[in-house]
Amino acid sequence: REVSMEKLVSLCKRRGFVYQSSEIYGGLSGAWDYGPLGVELKNRVKDYWWREMTQLHDNIVGLDAAIMMHPRVWEASGHVDNFSDPLVDCKQCKSRFRADQIDLEAPCPVCGNSGTFTEPRDFNLMFATHIGPVKDDGSIVYLRPETAQGIFVNFRNVVQTSRVKIPFGIAQVGKAFRNEVTTKNFIFRTCEFEQMEMQFFVKPGEDDKWFEFWKNERISYYDKLGIRKEKLRFHRHGENELAHYAKDAFDIEYEFPMGWQELEGIHSRTDFDLSRHAEYSGKDLTYLDDDKSRYIPYVIETSAGLTRSVLMVLSDAYEEEELEGGDIRTVLHFHPSLAPVTVAVLPLVKKDGIAEIAQGVASDLREEFAVFYDQSGAIGRRYRRMDEIGTPFCVTIDYDTKEDKTVTLRFRDSMEQVRVPIDELTSRIRAEIKN
Ligand code: GAP
Repeated sequence: REVSMEKLVSLCKRRGFVYQSSEIYGGLSGAWDYGPLGVELKNRVKDYWWREMTQLHDNIVGLDAAIMMHPRVWEASGHVDNFSDPLVDCKQCKSRFRADQIDLEAPCPVCGNSGTFTEPRDFNLMFATHIGPVKDDGSIVYLRPETAQGIFVNFRNVVQTSRVKIPFGIAQVGKAFRNEVTTKNFIFRTCEFEQMEMQFFVKPGEDDKWFEFWKNERISYYDKLGIRKEKLRFHRHGENELAHYAKDAFDIEYEFPMGWQELEGIHSRTDFDLSRHAEYSGKDLTYLDDDKSRYIPYVIETSAGLTRSVLMVLSDAYEEEELEGGDIRTVLHFHPSLAPVTVAVLPLVKKDGIAEIAQGVASDLREEFAVFYDQSGAIGRRYRRMDEIGTPFCVTIDYDTKEDKTVTLRFRDSMEQVRVPIDELTSRIRAEIKN
């Protein structure tokens, strides 16, 4: 179950999960497009997270804030002053590096010349653009570098317009943008990406307890999704790693094909953000508790990358399995709730009314599942294609179906096959997904 990045990129392209952005023009670095299967996978990862956070926690509500926000937001949040990477250029070959990722005493890793680096300078990661026809300082807006600020600036709105009481959370999924210096490793680090964030507002003094709670919740979530335990670990931020807003922070790391890397951050943000927005906006962002105490809530944040989760799910699912007889089958062991196609319906032959029965079965299953219908080619090849895109169930219709109204249900992981009556198929698949 180990996969190289080259193999993943190639499968993603071949099967329509992920394409390079603007490929016919030579591509745009740091940007990727999600194809027919990729968009389904990404939507399912998002839906799974959304259900987990909002439906299964009765004290979390949702939000969808605009990507473009008032420029003062980013002054208050500290991003204008602090959200930067230290950059150096090689004066010889003009290559650009993050100063904290290379040895400045060593020769340039690209051209090999020594002593050619410029002094490090801070490079802000926010993309700036302008609203309106005049491009001056007064019209500047940033593409949000995190979704979190949309939640903080709506804290008062949500408290006033819904029946939430502390402790409660606000969840949001959406695009974020960072002018990243290095964007290698496929969809791992890109300039345009999606985040799934949840800000949990608590009474000051109860933040450590909730920090522990959310660490446990978030690691259990990956377990529920069937992600291999040994590929996940916590990494606590040291003093010099902590973001400008954080009192304490843990990353959940995953062992990607290129090594252990951050998948999600769990941050204890204190009252930093709400206090700053209160100061910059002049608005009262305190909360009146049932016990009549008034305070600015503390915040525990869980911040996962959606597009990065897609890479994690693909890496974790990939297997080249050696079959009896020496054949290799490539299979994606997606959790059934994440698979882009849930059931493939495959008539063994087209003639004698078999295809018509199969189309009937497919249209019944479509009421509840994502179905792919494929009636041509050798059945073995059709199974392999479904294994390679991670389809957990295949249903084949044959001559016996005409006689006894049963079909063959084949399971992706075990390749086991069982006969199931057509009228029990939907409930059987539903039960298998729940298991
Ligand atoms: N609101 C807190 C925050 O944004 P972060 O650690 O900077 O924290 C959270 O980002 C998550 O967003 C990361 O764990 C990662 O999954 C994802 N992420 C951050 N930058 C990314 C990028 N350039 N490309 C893809 N995902 C990214």
